[in-house]
Amino acid sequence: MPGIVSQFQTAAENAKVAGFDGVELHGANGYLLDQFLRDGSNRRTDAYGGSIQKRARFPLEVAEAVVGVWGSQRVGYKLSPHFAGYSMSDSNPPETFSYLAEQLNRLRIGYLHVAEAIAGPMAAPAGTVRVTPILRDKFNGAMIVNGDYDAHSGHAAIARGEADLVVFGVPFLANPDLPARYRKNASLNLPEHATF
Ligand SMILES: Cc1cc2nc3c(=O)[nH]c(=O)nc-3n(C[C@H](O)[C@H](O)[C@H](O)COP(=O)(O)O)c2cc1C
Repeated sequence: MPGIVSQFQTAAENAKVAGFDGVELHGANGYLLDQFLRDGSNRRTDAYGGSIQKRARFPLEVAEAVVGVWGSQRVGYKLSPHFAGYSMSDSNPPETFSYLAEQLNRLRIGYLHVAEAIAGPMAAPAGTVRVTPILRDKFNGAMIVNGDYDAHSGHAAIARGEADLVVFGVPFLANPDLPARYRKNASLNLPEHATF
């Protein structure tokens, strides 16, 4: 495990040499950090599996190593409480991700990037709790929200205090001038999934 942590540290050092402004840890979408964190994928019985404290150990060791390279404010962490691709699942997303957010507070990282869509397959399934407002409450740094937002819903998320920044992915693919279009309230090209 320490060898894997040091690979992340090396990547962070390389990003610095390459002239990046900071790094975002990809703890979402079934990537390695996510696989350790969630109880649907982490079946280990050693010090890195079982309780939430143990499942969060690897992601937090990686975060600590990367903060050691960049300083806390140049590090962000992307997570996806409801991502269900690649057989990913968790029995209690609010509890799991709250614990992670509280521990990331300790490291004083710059932001959390929450991929919990407001609609579609990345959204909280019907009848389950949205995790974004809970993380907003727990986490002390900046919050970025991600998933199915447009100008209107993005402004609304900021207005109700749920986010500091909003990500746009798919709308950008069909509209490289997206900020200008949003500013002018202009119509948008429709995304063409076949050419993604
Ligand atoms: C074509 C395409 C490829 C993507 N590839 C990845 C990927 O490799 N890894 C990942 O974690 N997210 C990936 N994403 C998800 C985006 O990072 C983002 O979370 C998502 O697009 C949600 O924002 P949106 O609804 O505004 O598009 C991809 C999205 C799109 C549209």
